[in-house]
Amino acid sequence: MVSDSSIDFSKNILVCGGAGYVGSHVALSLMRSGYTPVIVDNFANSDPSIITRLEAISRSAIKSYKVDLADKVRVFQIFEQVAPVAVIQLAGLKAVAQSFKEPVNYYAVNLGITLNILSAMSHYECEKIVFSSSATVYGEPDYIPIDEGHRVSPINPYGRTKLFQEEIIRDWVAAEGQASAVILRYFNPVGADASGLIGEDPSGTPNNLMPILGDTAAGIRDDVLIFGADYPTRDGTCERDYVHVSDVADAHVAALEAVLENKYEIFNVGTGRGVTVREAIDAYSKALGQRLPKRIGARRDGDAASSVAANNKILQRLKWRPLRDFKDACRDEVKWRSYKAGQNLGD
Ligand code: WQD
Repeated sequence: MVSDSSIDFSKNILVCGGAGYVGSHVALSLMRSGYTPVIVDNFANSDPSIITRLEAISRSAIKSYKVDLADKVRVFQIFEQVAPVAVIQLAGLKAVAQSFKEPVNYYAVNLGITLNILSAMSHYECEKIVFSSSATVYGEPDYIPIDEGHRVSPINPYGRTKLFQEEIIRDWVAAEGQASAVILRYFNPVGADASGLIGEDPSGTPNNLMPILGDTAAGIRDDVLIFGADYPTRDGTCERDYVHVSDVADAHVAALEAVLENKYEIFNVGTGRGVTVREAIDAYSKALGQRLPKRIGARRDGDAASSVAANNKILQRLKWRPLRDFKDACRDEVKWRSYKAGQNLGD
């Protein structure tokens, strides 16, 4: 065993990017498991009220710092102040389309942040990192479901920044005697915390399906444009492994507590079940209580017909399993969107 599971509950867990969509749910899961998350974020992609909403849900104070993690001096100052026992690294740029337009910025920011964090971890002897990666590292799948042994060949700069960060962390772990790392490759995180007070709150026009369903329900869009209905799937529309964001968040706690067999482990985070675009629209319509208008358009470049996780490794080794399904995600998303509309969040 290279690391024990006795993370000291009183010690700080640094959640880099903890004001973001997945990050805020990770902070909540940590608090619900008795840990002390400290959020570090530039708040570029989240409403400042996220902290008070997290405190309202958890009924406890949560420390947060507004920091540009690309600033190495600031990162070291945070480590000096917080003295974290572990780091969960979710911070970075994550828009696939934007990454084609500004690849150099994506490499500079995403790799720079992780390099700063690892340097500080070495200096302050913080030995455990959980890294937020993505199924996008697999690129066009050779087989479904996709297991962790599938070749990795991302087809966009964003996905390549995720893969390169995984490899940077692998080399860091190998060089650092006591360090260990868990890489979590999320499939498609969706939904919101059951409280309805936090959820996906993308700044600008969303690209992902779930917030687009929400925008259509809210009348922000006239309809859902289905990107292609001629794929080799059961109903012709693309299939994805949508995993509830609260389950994704819980996977980070399981990763922290894991007694790892190896210093460096990679896990897919998915349900193992696929949902097509048509099925997603129907499920959201049911949760909403009204049919969402839709129309069929051309395929979107880069879309794979199907992307579904093989999740046996995480089920067996991290003792984690998805507790919620896509129906739950739609129910929670609808609840979050009505709260968001009432609060004019992110407008
Ligand atoms: C899902 C399906 C679309 C919008 C992306 C990122 C990936 C990861 C998860 C960060 C696809 C279809 C969508 C619409 C549609 N993010 N769709 N009409 O592309 O699987 O993955 O999010 O790590 O990196 O690439 O998710 O939500 O964009 O699309 O028909 O208006 O919905 O074609 O099949 P995707 P998505």
